[in-house]
Amino acid sequence: MNKEELNNLFDQQAPKYDQQWKKMAPINDGLYFFLGPIFDKLPVQSRVLSVGAGTGKEIIYLAEKFPNWTFTVVEPSSVMMQFCRENIERNNLTSRCFFHEGYIDSLPLKENHNAATCFNVSHFFLDEEERRSFFTQIANKLTPAGILVNSDLASDTNADNYNELLKTWLTSMAQSDLSEDNIKKMKTAYAKDVAILPPKQVASIIASGGFDFPVQFYQAGLIHAFFAKRSQA
Ligand SMILES: C[S@@+](CC[C@H](N)C(=O)[O-])C[C@H]1O[C@@H](n2cnc3c(N)ncnc32)[C@H](O)[C@@H]1O
Repeated sequence: MNKEELNNLFDQQAPKYDQQWKKMAPINDGLYFFLGPIFDKLPVQSRVLSVGAGTGKEIIYLAEKFPNWTFTVVEPSSVMMQFCRENIERNNLTSRCFFHEGYIDSLPLKENHNAATCFNVSHFFLDEEERRSFFTQIANKLTPAGILVNSDLASDTNADNYNELLKTWLTSMAQSDLSEDNIKKMKTAYAKDVAILPPKQVASIIASGGFDFPVQFYQAGLIHAFFAKRSQA
């Protein structure tokens, strides 16, 4: 999918996004559970970059956990951004956020961030070089000690047991509010529109984008999450 198609997809998904994923909340809850320990040595007044913020869930979680932190919200889908703004306003967090509707390469802010989150975004880059450059753009927005937490769909799709894992993953989706039609679409999209790579390869792309070798700290089904410090090159 090119950028425009991806934007259209998320524009369409935005109104039902939170409802659709509600029953899959344990996956995000598990991921978010580790954010406190990963980020706990960061300055009290940290600024966090959220890339592909979607409806703003991770920002709302972090804002409550770290009451002095401020956030840069990067989201290219205008409808997603609208829902994100509304959710953030509902939680009285607007004054702590800078909203950028667009991509990280056009982010006007000069100041560096102490941390970045990027959840379920980089797997949309089918071209490995573009994916690397995406991580470099994130690294360039971080302070020298900045930390990225990234999650993506990842797996060794050539492994003998991949089909079993995929089946389990799709069955778990079926328990959520996703329609059968959506699940079918998802399976097709995984094969052609999402770069599902082995976790070690994802880690290596992140590293070559400008980070120390990432630590994989979480897996739930196909979701794999890593944290990595900006490298000191
Ligand atoms: C699967 S959603 C994840 C949203 C949120 N991070 C979450 O985990 O709930 C992916 C989001 O990334 C955004 N996105 C897609 N490509 C992007 C890019 N190149 N840069 C920043 N955001 C992007 C989409 O518009 C969408 O809102």
